[in-house]
Amino acid sequence: MTPDEKKQQVARAALEHIVPGTVIGVGTGSTANYFVDALAQIKNKIEGTVASSNATAERLKSHGIPVFELNSVDEISVYIDGADESNRYLHLIKGGGGALTREKIVAAVSTRFVCIADDSKLVDVLGKFPLPVEVIPMARSYVARQLVKLGGQPIWREGVTTDNGNVILDVHHLEIAEPVKLESEINQIVGVVTNGLFAKRPADILLLGTDTGVKVLD
Ligand code: A5P
Repeated sequence: MTPDEKKQQVARAALEHIVPGTVIGVGTGSTANYFVDALAQIKNKIEGTVASSNATAERLKSHGIPVFELNSVDEISVYIDGADESNRYLHLIKGGGGALTREKIVAAVSTRFVCIADDSKLVDVLGKFPLPVEVIPMARSYVARQLVKLGGQPIWREGVTTDNGNVILDVHHLEIAEPVKLESEINQIVGVVTNGLFAKRPADILLLGTDTGVKVLD
């Protein structure tokens, strides 16, 4: 099975986690895109969605799925999104697609977070995938120097501006033994908007696409 087939498999499996008649949070990236396409088939069963990026909002609307502003919604029953890496405790690295801040906000608001990924994303220790950090543009060099002090090698994702008008530093060579601690430490650097560690609020369940079917970790 190809990685794309595995992503499609878990995207379809995520439909079983939809709570009928409620608002669903929808993530960003290729796996989340497959989920949007699957969701279109049952769109009449949900009230609507909140999207974690402009790109996802456009895809949802192209299928005729209602997209609400987060501020106009009281509750999100479940958030469905991919990840760049997950460890066994469902701590994640996210933000490869640059949408980490809105993803973290929608995940925080949602009652449940269902992560969907192909099995290449499961790792023993987070950090092989460079950790994305969203930064206020004028603080880019300062934040980069602070990240070096934490042991990483930040690389500016040149040419990329987030949906929030900020820049991204991808931090290489981190071996993240304590994800909750590092998430807090990075967030305390002045100028950082968010980092891509989802450890304080990990996924509740991980649907992993494998050659032998969907494996569930929780
Ligand atoms: C988007 O900013 C990311 O957090 C994605 O969820 C992550 O990069 C996974 O993307 P794929 O589903 O394309 O692998």
